[in-house]
Amino acid sequence: MKLRLIILFLVASIGVFAKFWFFCAEEPKPDTPPLETIYANVYGNTSAFTISPKEKEEMQESGNAPVYGELTPKGILDVIQYMHEKLHAFFGNKMPKQINFMDVGSGAGKVVLGACIKGSFHKCLGVEYSKERHAVAANAYQKIISEGATFIPKGREVVFINADALTVDMSSMHAIYVSSYCFKKPFMEKLLAKFEKELPDGAIIVTSQALPTQPQQGRLKLIRIFTVSQSWKSDSKAHAYQVGIPDGEVQNDMPANWRASSR
Ligand SMILES: C[S@@+](CC[C@H](N)C(=O)[O-])C[C@H]1O[C@@H](n2cnc3c(N)ncnc32)[C@H](O)[C@@H]1O
Repeated sequence: MKLRLIILFLVASIGVFAKFWFFCAEEPKPDTPPLETIYANVYGNTSAFTISPKEKEEMQESGNAPVYGELTPKGILDVIQYMHEKLHAFFGNKMPKQINFMDVGSGAGKVVLGACIKGSFHKCLGVEYSKERHAVAANAYQKIISEGATFIPKGREVVFINADALTVDMSSMHAIYVSSYCFKKPFMEKLLAKFEKELPDGAIIVTSQALPTQPQQGRLKLIRIFTVSQSWKSDSKAHAYQVGIPDGEVQNDMPANWRASSR
């Protein structure tokens, strides 16, 4: 009887410890420097703004425009905070054990690294079509690793893939960011079909360009139109959608004075 009690106590203690460790793995480090400081160190003079004429041509042939811009550090923090809020609102205390973030067209990888360093995602995935931009992201992450990965909270996984985002399985993703002004309508239609088919209930999508949906039909519901700070404009338009919200519960907090033409 005594032995049973001891075993029970040990098993319970391991459970509590594992839960505590798991919880610790989720939290960003409180003493982490601002993203601006981290990026200045990690990227130095490298950037993803320019690609070779050959890559520009390939991008155009793939059906998307070769223009480039980035979410600023402030924009990154605003977007990931909003995503966490909406995930918590949807799941409450039934939050999946692992919540994952994806940047569709990850460029230099700043959004992915920012989500990993400042957010509470387990896996942060960046998918980028351009080999040259992918290399900038992969090198930046390599530099973080080689310097001891002090900014990366434990239990995190960062993955950069050089591929067309339409070929990547999104079924384990809960938070998707798409800087989509460079994406043309046929690409956006395919992306929407992929989101509708693959994303789990509760997944939140923030995209600069609106998705080509019929208003509030399908699994994705438009929940908010707001502004984010981008490299080309401090108040650029963003659209947020969430998967699987019952029709009666869609909250659209679009400001009344919204200028439909603003980007
Ligand atoms: C506007 S940039 C955004 C970069 C980054 N996400 C940010 O916000 O800072 C869009 C990126 O999408 C990439 N891209 C274009 N077509 C793509 C495709 N089919 N699959 C993946 N990435 C693509 C471009 O090369 C570019 O790096």
